[in-house]
Order: sequence, then structure tokens, then C-alpha cells
Amino acid sequence: MDELRLLTGGYAWLPDRRRRAPTYRTRLLGRRATCIGGVDAAKFFYNERHIRRHGALPGPVLSTLFGHGAVHTLDGAEHRTRKSMFLSVMGPDCVADLTAKAAEVWDETVPTWRRVTLFDETSRILTRAVTDWAGISLPSNEIPAMAADQIAMVDGFATAGPRHFKARAARRRQEKWFAGVSEGFLYDVMSAHLRDPHTRAVELLNVIRPTVALSWFVTFAAHALHRWPKHRADLAAGGAYAVAFAHEVRRFYPFAPFLGGLAVQDLAWDGERIPAGSMVLLDLYGHNHDPALFPDPYVFAPDRFVGHDIGPFELVPQGAGWPDINHRCPGEGIAVAVLATLATGLARLDYEVPEQDLDIPFHRIPTRPRSGFVLRTSS
Ligand code: HEM
Repeated sequence: MDELRLLTGGYAWLPDRRRRAPTYRTRLLGRRATCIGGVDAAKFFYNERHIRRHGALPGPVLSTLFGHGAVHTLDGAEHRTRKSMFLSVMGPDCVADLTAKAAEVWDETVPTWRRVTLFDETSRILTRAVTDWAGISLPSNEIPAMAADQIAMVDGFATAGPRHFKARAARRRQEKWFAGVSEGFLYDVMSAHLRDPHTRAVELLNVIRPTVALSWFVTFAAHALHRWPKHRADLAAGGAYAVAFAHEVRRFYPFAPFLGGLAVQDLAWDGERIPAGSMVLLDLYGHNHDPALFPDPYVFAPDRFVGHDIGPFELVPQGAGWPDINHRCPGEGIAVAVLATLATGLARLDYEVPEQDLDIPFHRIPTRPRSGFVLRTSS
């Protein structure tokens, strides 16, 4: 009953098992599953002759988080063609434009704050920024509802309870809304590749939703600044330290726990036989806390990334390998730049942190500080 252990253990489930046996065999969702981790395991997993993605993601995850027909479910040439569409809107100029938008909306919004919940506020700031950037017109009064739906799709993908049904409803609403989008920079790029309005809506959402999901990392950044205020002055200066801080937030805090794929053929790994068609899980959280890669992994230390070129299989909160040929997240440039910028904004802001529950429950996927991080600015 590893599904139950996963539900109760959350982020600790796989790293705990793998501490006892680095390659761990179990059954999940009626399938045999081999759980692997580490640099060589990531290289093994990202080899397309070993692992395919088609058929690997359970229906409930597609009906909430990614959408049916999403790029996440494709392999081979079809995957590379679809992926090139995403990468064409995530080059350095696009990253700079979206980051500037996020900074502009942040700067307009923050002076209106008194006592706010950072997680919720950030989700609205990012919804405004990413829809403006994409050229999607969205009346201001519709931002809170759209932001809430983007968050709900991520928040409810890994549970079977009410959060899951909220996530399904959010996806149904958002796919319908995005199927009606018929103009703007992002629509123009996607409609040149995708004729079917449903698939186009799914992939538009695969840009909008994860950008709004950066609210998790911004909230973790606030948590880190609160727990380790010694980093505030360096972060407030921005620049290379802010980028290092963003990397450390992505490494240290739990977000995507693991990846799943299916064995293309009979395989062997670490002395274990992996039959064709069985499931393979790659442990991302454990990888990011491997002392062989990150000494003192449970110490929050942005300095570890200052002046350091990160290798393709080193830091893996958004997958490993190369984004153009593998499934690695194409949005890492956006994630790092937006997170570094908004975290710098936080470090420069004068605020108090009232008494609240900042516990980050490990059994909950995805998790965040329970309170969402309430702060009070000085008026
Ligand atoms: C894929 C994490 C932000 C777009 C992924 C994957 C992970 C991930 C773990 C799967 C990698 C794999 O299967 O090998 C995250 C996290 C983010 C984030 C934690 C922070 C919020 C973004 C952003 C965008 C984005 C900002 C776009 C603006 C995508 C897309 C894929 C993807 C389109 C599918 C890639 C493929 O299957 O080839 N992301 N991501 N993500 N991400 Fe992100």
C-alpha cells in the first residue's frame, strides 16, 4: 500500500525509502514501480531509449495539473516539435519582458498593502503580469478568480479529496475560457502550431499556470528571509546574489517531489530488472538534498550557487537534462528571473511578520507555509 504511505509521508516518502535502498521497488496504481535517484539515475531516466512519457501520467493528474494532450505526455519527434513552440517564447528577451512586467505589477501593488497574505497577493500579481505579457486581455475584476483557478489546478493534483475536485472544476473552467482566446502574442505563436482549440487551451495554460505557481517559490523566499534574516542585505542588493538565492529556494524547499515515466523496453538498473511497460520514478527532492551534490543539504545557503555554473544533472527542481531535447522544464529562465526579482523586492520591503502558523507540512503535496505568509507593511 505505497499509495497510502505516499499520501501520509508526502515529500519524505521516497527519500526515506531510498535512504534504506537507493533503488527501491514497489507497486503504485496497480503497476510495478522502480524508484531511482542520483546523477547517473537522472541520466538513465532522461534517455528516451529507456523511458517514455506517453501513458505515464495518471488521468487524475492530467485532468487537474497538465491537461489531456499536453506536451508532458509526448515522446520523440512529436515532443520536440511541441517543445520548440514553448522554447520559442521563453528565450532571453521573452524572459526579460515577463520579468519586467512582474516587477512593474509588484511595484504598483505593494504600496496598497497593509496586512496581506503573500501567497494570495503574489498569485494575483503574477496572473496580471503573465496575461499582460501574453497579450491576453483580462479585466481587472476577473484577476482574483483566474488566479484562484490557476492555484487550484496545482494545489489539488495529488490528493483524492475536496482539493482534487476543486482542481478539476478549475481546469474545466479555465480550458473553456482559454479555448475562447483568439488574439495576442502567445495565442499567435501557439495557433501557428496547434489547430485544435482544446490542445491550444491546454498549452496556453501550460504557460500561464506554472508562472502563477511561482507564488509557491516567492512564499518560500519570504519564509527563508524570515528564518535566516542574515541574507536580507545581500538579497536587497539584487544581481548575482539574488539569482543564487532563487536557486537555493528552488533547491531547498519542496515542490515537485518526483517524476514518472514508463520503461520503453526491458531494462536493468543498479542490479534491478525493470520490465518493459513498468513505471520508473525519479526522486527530485532527494536529488536536491543529496550531500554528495550539495554539502550540508539541509542548511539554506545561497552562497553555494554564487559564481557556480550549474550542470544539466545537478540542480533538478524543474527536471534535468536539456530543455530542447528532454522534458526538462522550459520555464526555468522565467522561474529564476521572476523569483530573483520578486525576492529582491521582498528584501527591500519594510514589513512585520505577525504571529502565524509558518509550519510547512511535509505530508501535503504541494506544500507551503500553512498561513500563506501573512505580512504587515508599515504605512
Ligand atoms: C515541465 C517544474 C515553472 C512550463 C516541468 C517539469 C517540472 C517542472 C518538474 C517536468 C520535467 C520533466 O518531466 O522532465 C516547475 C516548477 C516551476 C515551473 C517547480 C515553478 C513554479 C514553469 C514555468 C513555465 C513552465 C514558469 C512556463 C512559463 C513547463 C512546461 C513543461 C514543464 C511547458 C513541460 C515540458 C516537457 O514536457 O517537455 N516543470 N516548472 N514551468 N514546465 Fe515547469
